[in-house]
Amino acid sequence: MSTVPSSSLTEEPNQSEKSYSPALNPEDSEEELNASEQLNDSLEVIGEGSFSRVYGHTHSPWGGQVYKVCKNPDDVRRLLHESKLYDELRMFIIDRNGADFLCPFFRVLLKPPIDQQPHEGTDPKPDVDNHIFPYPTIQLDRIPALTFALEPLYKRLFVSEGAQSRVPRIHLLRLCLGCDLPMQITDFPQGFTSDLSVDYSRYTKLEEIFVGLPPIGHIAHGMGTLLASMHWGVGIDALNVKLVLGSRIIQNQFFWQCWVLNLDQVNGSDGGTADLQCERWLVYRPLEYLRFDKLTDGAYRDEDLVSGAMRLAHVISGQDYYPNPHYPELYEQFKTAYMAQVGVLINGVNNTSAGPDLFLSENRAGATKWVPKIYEAAGAFIKELDSLNTEKRRRRDERAQEERAARVGEQWRRAGQE
Ligand SMILES: Nc1ncnc2c1ncn2[C@@H]1O[C@H](COP(=O)(O)OP(=O)(O)OP(=O)(O)O)[C@@H](O)[C@H]1O
Ligand SMILES: [Mg+2]
Repeated sequence: MSTVPSSSLTEEPNQSEKSYSPALNPEDSEEELNASEQLNDSLEVIGEGSFSRVYGHTHSPWGGQVYKVCKNPDDVRRLLHESKLYDELRMFIIDRNGADFLCPFFRVLLKPPIDQQPHEGTDPKPDVDNHIFPYPTIQLDRIPALTFALEPLYKRLFVSEGAQSRVPRIHLLRLCLGCDLPMQITDFPQGFTSDLSVDYSRYTKLEEIFVGLPPIGHIAHGMGTLLASMHWGVGIDALNVKLVLGSRIIQNQFFWQCWVLNLDQVNGSDGGTADLQCERWLVYRPLEYLRFDKLTDGAYRDEDLVSGAMRLAHVISGQDYYPNPHYPELYEQFKTAYMAQVGVLINGVNNTSAGPDLFLSENRAGATKWVPKIYEAAGAFIKELDSLNTEKRRRRDERAQEERAARVGEQWRRAGQE
């Protein structure tokens, strides 16, 4: 586990950072909240996406629960999918250290009674005290926010003077190891509510200052492990799943922790609508059902395993989270972890807790048929990802070169006019 009481910064925090020092006792803040019995008053929007608004309690950024409330009352099926996937993914989560990704615990799906459906003007905010949920909602454990000490530092390092007043609160940071962000954010769009991001450069800058942030190579490794679990354990293509840095509190100690969230955009094999993005690409519990003739499902149903896996590469190369060949060391760690985790999942299949032969004796034919194909398909995924990423990089370099040439041309033109 990647440790660090937030107090152990290598740099002496300045006055404002000191005043942000968290009281590292999430239980105290919960007690305070219960004593006042005004849960609703402290409920605020802590995050928002296209699909939902997420409410959490002001007084407990490091614990308690959040309420993910659909913006559209008809999206209840999508919420149901998300809750199932949170449950499924948790089965594959490895909890070794802060660079392995954890996933928040799903508690309950809440929806209004049939005769109290929301209409235009209904306030979507849950009334937690009276247990009234006007819009479909899921209750999840809160991903503990980052220590407050990080917030002023992030702003000082990465937000320009002019944009300081518009920085949203920083609870979590998106881990975008696959993109190159400008070192300084100079503007935020109107109403910006997303999590802020760190890429390689910003993360390594933070690493110089905060002791015990998970080493970036471990995060790359954790991403590979997680992605393989989503692809082959749960059987989803993982489009738009968010990877963030948050924290974790154990016995009043603060630890940095990587988390995965946002699993709602899932189109099950039950004929969901086409605009849903993240697809279930394999049958439910793919590795348990190797007796099936076909493992691919949903929008991938007509693909074989190898071509389906190659399609996954197109999904993943378009995501900003996962490392790419621009940082070869990270990329290698990511790919190695991915393939290793496929092996772990397959070995898990071959060695169920009920005895090594139980699964095989039931599904020996299926396993003999599918295991080599799964390895082949996972290898095809990596190969296709390599070539897509390399091509992406080449196009980006070409564009940068063209832009540079255009700038120089413009300078010459201006110089000629003077
Ligand atoms: N369990 C949680 N703990 C803490 N914060 C959370 C939790 N779930 C969601 N959030 C916050 O709320 C934001 C929006 O959540 P989420 O991504 O699930 O919503 P969404 O509407 O499905 O988003 P999108 O349109 O991007 O898919 C997250 O980026 C995160 O900041
Ligand atoms: Mg979503």
